[in-house]
Amino acid sequence: MVFLTRVEHFNAAHKLYNPDWDKEKNEEIFGRCANENWHGHNYELFVTVKAEPDGGTGFVIDAKKLSDIIKDRVIEKVDHKNLNVDVEWMNGKICSTENFVVAIWEALLPALPSAVQLHSIKLYETPRIFVEYFGK
Ligand code: NI
Repeated sequence: MVFLTRVEHFNAAHKLYNPDWDKEKNEEIFGRCANENWHGHNYELFVTVKAEPDGGTGFVIDAKKLSDIIKDRVIEKVDHKNLNVDVEWMNGKICSTENFVVAIWEALLPALPSAVQLHSIKLYETPRIFVEYFGK
């Protein structure tokens, strides 16, 4: 089994806010991330798929094709957007990187060719904080 990773980049705004809590508790738990007027991140998205290389091409997947799928299913929907407000699949969820990475997995999975398996999604929110998801 060979693993191939495609890296994509996007910018987006969000805030961490639990509507079941008052403003004070949100600020206590989330600190500056609860700022009502949002804040932004430069996200780096790593999508890893796995398969035996194809006999004809030697590829796990055509990396350009994988990039096109990620752009169509994820980047177009989130780049330069407000994740809390503009992104349908984050509706009703706390906009943490943890919840976001699971939502990205679910958005991407149905669009991948059956010849590959989705292995992991890694999302850097800052150069020093990232979240990884390997499915359920
Ligand atoms: Ni943030």
